[in-house]
Amino acid sequence: MDDVVAIDELISAATIEARVRELAGDIAAHYADRCPLLIGVLNGAVVFMADLARQMPIELDFQFMAVSSYGAATESSGVVQILKDLDSPIEGREVLVVEDIIDSGLTIRYLMRLLEQRRPADIRIVTLLRKDRPEVRDLHVDWIGFEIPDAFVVGYGLDLAGRFRNLPFVGVAVLSHEGR
Ligand code: IMP
Repeated sequence: MDDVVAIDELISAATIEARVRELAGDIAAHYADRCPLLIGVLNGAVVFMADLARQMPIELDFQFMAVSSYGAATESSGVVQILKDLDSPIEGREVLVVEDIIDSGLTIRYLMRLLEQRRPADIRIVTLLRKDRPEVRDLHVDWIGFEIPDAFVVGYGLDLAGRFRNLPFVGVAVLSHEGR
């Protein structure tokens, strides 16, 4: 595998913080005095979900699911696997799926199909990032943090083969074969 020779900052920690506060305000206003169930998609959405939830001054509940569509590669394998399912039923609940990034849309489309079968009262999506790709232009996403170019990004929860999740900003990983 190529070495990472640099991480070029794309979205600063301060910009992320401001946008997360804004999103949290919009989402909290939408749910007002109801109690949504936030479903975080592990592992990438953990950092975003923790920051988002703490900025929402409403009652809410958490659950997590783990799915894998990539393994250690930087291109989708086209197969989604559930590695960890929810702990309890979501029937009748207002569900907010919290994603780190929508790339090909494969993972979120699969998750939405699966969760809709469990008859929640309502299901919405918030994603920190959405890549500008033709495959996802028709996909309805309720709240989007940032639209980004189609490049492989790391930081703020996002990894490359398990690395860089703890960077406080989002950056583009520059690989050795790209020459620097
Ligand atoms: P999708 O199924 O192609 O939309 O990909 C969704 C999942 O792939 C995300 O939840 C991430 O875990 C991972 N992913 C996609 N693009 C990136 C990226 O640029 N950096 C890190 N992880 C990514």
